[in-house]
Amino acid sequence: MNDTVRTAIVTGAARGIGAAIALRLASDGFNVAVLDLDEKACSDTVDSIHQARGSAIAVGVDVADEHSVSIGIERIASEFGTPTVLVNNAGITRDNLLFKMTVEDWDSVLGVHLRGSFLMARGVQKYMVHAGWGRIVNLSSISALGYRGQANYSAAKAGVHGFTKTLAIELGKFGVTVNAISPGFIETDMTAATAERLGIPFERFKSDAASQIPVNRVGQPEDIAHMASFFAGEQAGFVSGQVVYVSGGPFA
Ligand code: NAI
Repeated sequence: MNDTVRTAIVTGAARGIGAAIALRLASDGFNVAVLDLDEKACSDTVDSIHQARGSAIAVGVDVADEHSVSIGIERIASEFGTPTVLVNNAGITRDNLLFKMTVEDWDSVLGVHLRGSFLMARGVQKYMVHAGWGRIVNLSSISALGYRGQANYSAAKAGVHGFTKTLAIELGKFGVTVNAISPGFIETDMTAATAERLGIPFERFKSDAASQIPVNRVGQPEDIAHMASFFAGEQAGFVSGQVVYVSGGPFA
């Protein structure tokens, strides 16, 4: 690939970890398509990138919807630039113990994380293969190893590991690397919602979590953005099919 500016798509980038990854990739010099369910909700991230003199557009897409994904990717490719970096970050939780988990909650979590990552990766791979260069980064979680109340989410994230390794095998010969980041506790709306569901004040929830983490703090979205930046970079071309735990300790 020559040194023209590359275009990255970050899903679920209206807030939280996705927003931090979008900002970081923009500061690394990528054009960034800030993709989330609601295009208007992406404006804070896009504005922050513009203020830092980066290049970004907002794109409204439901990653679990095949038609929405194909229209969104086509729009990015025709109006903004050939997408050669994809960060599959969009995610939801619908936690419950198995006996109370509904089929809807199972399907919606598997739908966003697994079907969504599949649809996005399938949609962009042709641009990467044509360019002879690409980077796919999938967001997993330490919950892939098992977490009470998260049978749907754990299954989806463990699925992301197999998906990552298989794409790495299939796409490597085209210059495309595929890796996964498994974050531990990161301070975002998602963990705030978990605290609320459990009826624990967020500050206490965070300090309880920090006390169990070897580096003695919870993670910030920028901790994950740093790893995404590494995987998306030119020099990471010999790292593929890996799952890196970014969790403040050796929980893997
Ligand atoms: P968040 O809830 O703050 O943000 C998730 C974003 O994804 C939201 O902007 C939401 O609108 C978007 N989204 C949800 N469904 C979507 C869909 N169908 N199509 C497009 N966008 C959609 O979550 P957070 O914490 O930033 O998490 C980001 C990723 O990191 C997720 O994949 C999550 O599972 C993973 N993760 C988060 C951890 C944490 O402690 N916060 C720990 C481990 C993994």
